[in-house]
Amino acid sequence: MDAIQIYGGNCPEGQIKIQGSKNAVLPILAATLLIDGTCEIKNCPIISDVHHMLRLMESLCCTINRKGHTLTIDAACLSRCDMPSDSVSVMRSSIMLLGALLARTGSVSMQYPGGCVIGQRPIDLHLQGLRKMGVIIEEKEDGFSAEAVRLTGAVHRLPFVSVGATENLLLAAVLAQGDTVIENAAREPEITALCDFLNTAGADIEGAGTNRILIHGVKKLHAISYRIPSDRVVAGTYLAACLCCGGEVFLKDAPGRQIVSVIKAAAAMGARIYESEDGIQVACRERRKMIPLLQTDSYPGFPTDLQSAFLAAMTLADGEGALQETIFENRFRIVPQLQKMGADIVCRDNTVYVKGRRKLHGAVLQAQELRGGAALVLAGSAAEGTTVVCNRHFIERGYEDICKDLGEIGIRCKKIDYREYNG
Ligand code: EPZ
Repeated sequence: MDAIQIYGGNCPEGQIKIQGSKNAVLPILAATLLIDGTCEIKNCPIISDVHHMLRLMESLCCTINRKGHTLTIDAACLSRCDMPSDSVSVMRSSIMLLGALLARTGSVSMQYPGGCVIGQRPIDLHLQGLRKMGVIIEEKEDGFSAEAVRLTGAVHRLPFVSVGATENLLLAAVLAQGDTVIENAAREPEITALCDFLNTAGADIEGAGTNRILIHGVKKLHAISYRIPSDRVVAGTYLAACLCCGGEVFLKDAPGRQIVSVIKAAAAMGARIYESEDGIQVACRERRKMIPLLQTDSYPGFPTDLQSAFLAAMTLADGEGALQETIFENRFRIVPQLQKMGADIVCRDNTVYVKGRRKLHGAVLQAQELRGGAALVLAGSAAEGTTVVCNRHFIERGYEDICKDLGEIGIRCKKIDYREYNG
C-alpha cells in the first residue's frame, strides 16, 4: 500500500519552489479543445489529475506531447464525444470538458462524475446553465447526453458561487452566438487565469475576477503559448507546514497576492510573513496563537482547500478556537486521524472546536482525499516520533512530490510501501 513515512520534530529551514497550479491548468486544458491548432502550456504540474485529464483528451483524439513541465496540445482532430466512463470515474474534473466539447462538437455523452468524500459534488448548475444556452440534455440513470446545434448566449444568475459551473459556462460561451453574462460568478484566481488564457487566444471576456463576467461570443480562437501560474493552495500548504513545525522558509514563486486571507490567518497565529516579487518568506519562531474562529469562504475569503492544513496547525496552537467549513458538506475527514495523534478536537455540524496541545504523537493514518492527506503529512512533520500516512495516491493528485518539497526545508519524509513498514 502506497504511503508516506514522516520522521517528526524537525524545524524547517530552507526554500521550496512552488509548482504550477492544478486548479488553473485543468480548465485551461479543457479550453485547448476550443482551439483548432497546437497550444503550448508551460509550468504544467506533473500530477496524476493532469495525467488523467491528458489521457482523457487523447481518447478524444487530441495529439499531446509532454516534455517535463511543458505540453503541446493539438485539438485539430478532436472527435468522439462520448467520454470513456473509466476516465470520468477516476477524474471528476472531466466535467470541465463538457462546455468546451459542446462548443466544438455540439454533442457529448458522459456519465455523472459523481461525488467524493468531501461532498456530493452535484452538477445541477452546470446543466441548468447549458440548457439556457440551447443545449438539449437527456438525463439517464447514471449519465446524460447533451446536444447543441449552436450554443447561444444567455444571462446566468448563479444562486451561489461555483468555480466549476463558472468555468464550464465560460467555456461554452466564448464561441457561442451573442453575449453571455454570468452573475454571481466565482472570483477565484483560477477563473482569472482561464479568462486570461482565452482572451490571449482571441476571446472577448470582460470582468474576470469580479462576480459579473461578460462574454462576447467570437467566431474562432487561435493557438497560443501560455504559462500556468503558481499553485496558491500548494503555497498555502507549505506555509501551514511552517505554522505546524516552526522555523523559517522561503516559498519561491508563491503567489502572495492570491493568498491574502491565508497570510492574514497565519499572521494571526503568530507567523511573520514578508512578500517579495519572487515569493514569500515565512517565519514562525514563537508559540502559535489560536484563531478564535476561522471560516472558509469563496474567494477572496479563506479557501476551503486550505482548511485541513490550518486545522492541523490549530491543533498545536495555544488556547481554544474553532474552524467552520462553509463550502463542502463533509470536509472534516481528518478529524479522527488527528485525534489518533492526540489532538483535542471535536466536530459538531460544520464546525470543529479545537483545544490546542503542545504536542502530537506519531501514528499510522489513512488519507481519504487530497488536501486532508497533505494536512496529515504536516501534522506528522510536527509530531513526536514517526507517522505513516497511507493512500499516498490521494496526495499525488495535486502535489508533484510532497516528500521532495518538504525535504528541501529539512522535514524528513519518504515514500514507502506500508507492507514493508515495521514501525
Ligand atoms: C473547485 O471545485 C476546485 N477544484 C476545488 O478544489 C475547490 O475546493 C472548489 O472549487 C471550491 O473552491 C478544481 O478547481 C478542479 P464548486 P468545484 O463548484 O468546481 C456545490 C482541490 O482540493 N455545487 O465551487 O467542484 C458543490 O457541491 C479541489 O483542489 C452544486 O451544488 O467546486 C460545493 O458544495 C477540491 N451544484 C459548492 O457548490 C453545482 O452544479 C462549491 O463547489 C456545482 C457546485
